[in-house]
Amino acid sequence: MKKNNGLEVIQVCKKYADQTVLDNVSFSVKPEQHTVVLGESGCGKSTLLRVVAGLFAPNAGKITIDGNRVSSANQIIIQPHLRNIALVFQDLALWSNLTVLGNITLVLSAKKFSAVNVKKQAKDVLEMCGIISLANRKPSETSGGQQQRVALARAIVLQPKYLLLDEPFSGLDLVTKYDLMEEIVALADKKNITIILVTHDPFEATFFAKQALILSRGKIVESGLFKDLLAQSQNPIMLKFRSQLQKTNDLPAVND
Ligand SMILES: Nc1ncnc2c1ncn2[C@@H]1O[C@H](COP(=O)(O)OP(=O)(O)OP(=O)(O)O)[C@@H](O)[C@H]1O
Ligand SMILES: [Mg+2]
Repeated sequence: MKKNNGLEVIQVCKKYADQTVLDNVSFSVKPEQHTVVLGESGCGKSTLLRVVAGLFAPNAGKITIDGNRVSSANQIIIQPHLRNIALVFQDLALWSNLTVLGNITLVLSAKKFSAVNVKKQAKDVLEMCGIISLANRKPSETSGGQQQRVALARAIVLQPKYLLLDEPFSGLDLVTKYDLMEEIVALADKKNITIILVTHDPFEATFFAKQALILSRGKIVESGLFKDLLAQSQNPIMLKFRSQLQKTNDLPAVND
């Protein structure tokens, strides 16, 4: 492997049947430059994460990770599990026949850890995500927000270099959400993990983002430092973000 010089998406196109969903998309993510992907529903955000993770090949263009080409037109060069990438799916995609603990240990068991080590790492990550008490339940026996935490635990347990998160916090209560977001950013800082987050939430975006990409109808219509876009962009999403963040700043003082 070459040195860690980030992720590059170069002129990527993706079609479903005759519908173009990603249209000549190019961007790069430098190491530890956490990036948010914004855009209207149906604009191609989840498809973009899936192409980057290698779940399917682009129809045109290429993707490199740390200088190594991982996908080319109609070709997966490096398989998803060898990309050092974890993806938390929008629909979570937990293994329903396994327990919460089983969902984590299955990921670990593909690596050459001892059985004792697998159990310890799995329990540590469940602890960190606040769901150790659910270890022996099936996902269907937990709440929606708890299932989101299981999916996050499963993604971070192998400490990937790139963590792709597709609206992973949407069903969580505020306290859990901010606790978990803080834990994830701390873990990312400690282990040099680069996060790419799809979100519709201005507070989540502000929490994570160094860089932002704004997609519309499969094209990147704006990109740059999140703080610059937040200050200056006239894109409707950024205008909305600015007004929502402004409203929070304008909250009235509460009387005793
Ligand atoms: N497997 C598929 N087969 C055919 N069309 C698909 C498939 N997956 C997604 N699409 C279509 O591709 C487009 C982009 O979908 P995608 O899921 O990437 O959007 P998104 O930006 O993630 O939207 P949302 O914010 O609602 O999650 C949509 O028009 C969707 O209907
Ligand atoms: Mg989506």
